[in-house]
Amino acid sequence: MALLQIDNLTVQFETSTGWFKAVDGVSLSVEKGEVLAIVGESGSGKSVAMLAVMGLLPWTAKITADRMLFEGRDIQKISATERRALIGKDIAMIFQEPVASLNPCFTVGFQIEEVLRIHLGLDRQARRARAIELFKLVGLPNPEERLGSFPHQMSGGQCQRVMIAIAIACDPKLLIADEPTTALDVTIQKQILDLIMDLQVRTGMGLIMITHDMGVVAETADRVVVQYKGKKMEEADVLSLFENPKSNYTKALLAALPENATGDRLTTVSDFFDGNPEPAPSAGMNGVNA
Ligand SMILES: Nc1ncnc2c1ncn2[C@@H]1O[C@H](COP(=O)(O)OP(=O)(O)OP(=O)(O)O)[C@@H](O)[C@H]1O
Ligand SMILES: [Mg+2]
Repeated sequence: MALLQIDNLTVQFETSTGWFKAVDGVSLSVEKGEVLAIVGESGSGKSVAMLAVMGLLPWTAKITADRMLFEGRDIQKISATERRALIGKDIAMIFQEPVASLNPCFTVGFQIEEVLRIHLGLDRQARRARAIELFKLVGLPNPEERLGSFPHQMSGGQCQRVMIAIAIACDPKLLIADEPTTALDVTIQKQILDLIMDLQVRTGMGLIMITHDMGVVAETADRVVVQYKGKKMEEADVLSLFENPKSNYTKALLAALPENATGDRLTTVSDFFDGNPEPAPSAGMNGVNA
């Protein structure tokens, strides 16, 4: 049984010109212990799809799915109370903007201790001890003093470490990391990525890594879903994707990697992609499973 299995997820937002499909019939699954990367350009619906799973989209979003199973249970059908008990505990997310995702009005210590209080019911002393342990685990210096800091008193990298500590506080079975390194300085990016991967290996949790960086995909993923304009373009294990990409969009993503650059300027996806995600018919491939 897959840890998470989503079938035919569609998320629509109402606009002045009608309903806009931010996610259009996406199906994907993650096994226990597996790392699934979701890759695609800005606006392709990566975050929205995962926020739908978390139940964190505004009520104006119209969400439909044939199934959204977590450990075999359809999370569309459980009560609000059951969902609250699941989210933040068994399914946790590292949000795209570390600083904006923390509450500016409370110390980071309070914010992590709240999670421990609500989901695990720990008393004050146990909460503090566990919070310090978690801050140590994510590599925050002076964890005891840090508990008393407000988000604005910390750097982006430190806020990201706090976010990770909060996400893993209750030993989630599934962690969704939404562009966990893009908001950070390049020197910190690798440290944070290594930290997440180390935690994943150590705990055996399932991990969904949302990124637009094929380098991050190569370094972390077992399997990859390529998304374009809300649709799944392609799904493959990581080696097949890099060696034998099927859709034109994936080929363009790979061609735009800096190491594949020819000439004296960096290339972009649009240098290789004319907007038609399907492979050309003459190529004899029909492997796009959108
Ligand atoms: N609350 C909302 N109301 C209306 N439209 C929204 C809302 N949230 C997201 N969208 C739209 O849905 C589309 C998909 O957005 P999403 O944030 O999932 O993209 P993304 O793939 O995560 O991009 P990025 O790589 O920039 O994070 C975008 O066109 C976005 O403008
Ligand atoms: Mg996003």
